[in-house]
Amino acid sequence: MTSLQAIAKRYRAFVDEQVRGRSPIYVELGLAVAETPEILSFLAGLPVAKQQPNLLFAAVRHVCGVPGDGSALAAAIREHGDAIRAVMLSHSTQTNEPGRCALLMPVLAQLPQPLALFEIGTSAGLCLHPDRYGYDYGGNRLMPADAGDDVPVFPCAIEPASVAPQTYPTVAWRGGLDLNPLDPSDPDQVAWLQTLIWPEQTARADRLTAALAIARDKPAPIQQRSLLDPLDDIFAAAPAGTTRVLFHSSVLVYIEALEERRAVSDRIRAACDVWICNESPRVLPWIAKKAPTAPHGMFMLSVNGRPVAWTDPHGASLIAIGDRLGIRS
Ligand SMILES: C[S@@+](CC[C@H](N)C(=O)[O-])C[C@H]1O[C@@H](n2cnc3c(N)ncnc32)[C@H](O)[C@@H]1O
Repeated sequence: MTSLQAIAKRYRAFVDEQVRGRSPIYVELGLAVAETPEILSFLAGLPVAKQQPNLLFAAVRHVCGVPGDGSALAAAIREHGDAIRAVMLSHSTQTNEPGRCALLMPVLAQLPQPLALFEIGTSAGLCLHPDRYGYDYGGNRLMPADAGDDVPVFPCAIEPASVAPQTYPTVAWRGGLDLNPLDPSDPDQVAWLQTLIWPEQTARADRLTAALAIARDKPAPIQQRSLLDPLDDIFAAAPAGTTRVLFHSSVLVYIEALEERRAVSDRIRAACDVWICNESPRVLPWIAKKAPTAPHGMFMLSVNGRPVAWTDPHGASLIAIGDRLGIRS
């Protein structure tokens, strides 16, 4: 396969596995990329890690807005190629989706409380505040006791309804790390986070804005460091008597080699009491093989290396594997 064919295949997979049914314009643009040699050649001039569909579309949007169709995308790249390339090289897809807290909540609520929460690959740290958001699990709604009108409420279709959490976890301590932590108070970084949200998903963009306000108001400490480095000290400042929960979502995909992902997973597991992992099943095949075949386009939620649910990549749904979310430490 030539490099252009490999890029075309990546964009078709993006359409089929991620955006179909979620963003009509990115379906159209993704297919246009796969069929347009001029755009494929532009992408081939970038490092493979920078050829990502989400990165291209966010960079184009950042420079000149959302193209209306494939020819407008080709024209944008022809006219603004240098600026788009510069954005792609200087930024990365750090999509921070606080809606993923709706997936963590059923697990967090079952654990011995209080909790010390640590997220690796935390971006702007928005998933470090699960106890400060509202949730709508079908008929089951949860709101923080002191919630104002501007608290975001994340909808999550949950199956079976019995696994929806009934209470909030008690978070005694929180922290995170990222290669490049984003600052919820920095207007440019906030604008980039908004640009990463797919164009039609305006409700998601509004919830992001509300979650950013919470993170600005009560910032969690975030360290700039790599998850590839030793992790044994991350709970050093957590209070005694807390359940040490380490979680990550849509992060291990950034580690290319399977063996390295396995080694990191072993270090993560050793660093905490409870390891919650929300990633594509393809990223952790040794865990995925313990579950039935994944529904198309869903992530896998696993706890301590055991698959417990299929999840919408942005937190919109959760389907328990089996009829309950049995959590064992
Ligand atoms: C797609 S974002 C997900 C952010 C957040 N986990 C969420 O679910 O909203 C992936 C994040 O992982 C971070 N990341 C990627 N490789 C990393 C590494 N080696 N060490 C630390 N963070 C990393 C990126 O900087 C980015 O912020």
